Amino acid sequence: MDVRIAEDAETLAREAAAIVAGLVAQRPDALILAATGETPIGLYRELARLRERGVLGTSRLRVAQLDEYLGLEEDDPRSLFGWMHRALLAPLEIDAGRIIRFTTGHPNAELVAGMYDRQVDAAGGIDLAILGLGLNGHLGFNEPPSRADAPTRTVSLDPGTLASNATYWPNAVVPERAVTAGMSVILSARRVLLLVSGSRKAKILDRLLRSAPDPELPASHLHDHPDTIVLADRDARPKGPPDA
Ligand code: PGA
Repeated sequence: MDVRIAEDAETLAREAAAIVAGLVAQRPDALILAATGETPIGLYRELARLRERGVLGTSRLRVAQLDEYLGLEEDDPRSLFGWMHRALLAPLEIDAGRIIRFTTGHPNAELVAGMYDRQVDAAGGIDLAILGLGLNGHLGFNEPPSRADAPTRTVSLDPGTLASNATYWPNAVVPERAVTAGMSVILSARRVLLLVSGSRKAKILDRLLRSAPDPELPASHLHDHPDTIVLADRDARPKGPPDA
C-alpha cells in the first residue's frame, strides 16, 4: 500500500487526476471503476478540466459503476448512476456503449449482479478502481463484515451508511437495499486509488493503516492488493501518537 499525503483537498484532486490521466495516456480505452460520493467530486471536476484543455482524451475511456440503490426507476436522478452521470459521464462524454451499469429496475437483483460481473469480465477487467473510504471502512457498499472474496451482490445498508447518505435524499427515505461490486471485483482491479479527504475520515484511515486484512474493516483487504495507492489529504491524516 503506497500511502501519499496531499496538502489539501484541491491538491488531492489534482494528484489523483494526474494518476488517472497517466493511465489513460498509456491505455486510452482503460476501464475505470468509479465511486460516487463527496470524495471523488474534486477529481472528476479536474478530469473534466483536463479534457477541456485537450490534455485528457476520453473518447475511448470506459467506466463501470461501483454500486447502486435497488428499487429505483432507471432514470431516477437520485440513483447513484444519475449522480455519476452528472459528475463524470456527461462532462467526459462517456456514451452508453462504454458504460457498465447496474440495471436497477430489473425484478431479479441477483441476476443483475451476475450480469454486471460478466460484463466486467468480457470487458477485460478493471484497470483502475477509484474508491472512497466509508466511515465504517466500507468500499462501495461492501459493508462490514465483507470477506476478500465477497462477490457482487445485493446488500442491506448499515444504519451509519443510511445516515451519511441521507443528505442526498431530502424529504425522502434512503433506500435500504443496494447492489455493490464485490470485494472480489475491487481486489481484481489492476490498480486501486483510494481517496480519503477531510478530518471526519482521520479515525477510520488510522484504523485502516494499522489493521491487518480483516472482514470487519473491508478496506483493509487492500493491504493484500499488489498496487494500491492511498491518497489522503492532511485533514484526513491520522494525528494520534503511534502505539507504543
Ligand atoms: P464520501 O463517501 O466520499 O461521500 O465520504 C465514501 C463512502 O462512504 O464510501
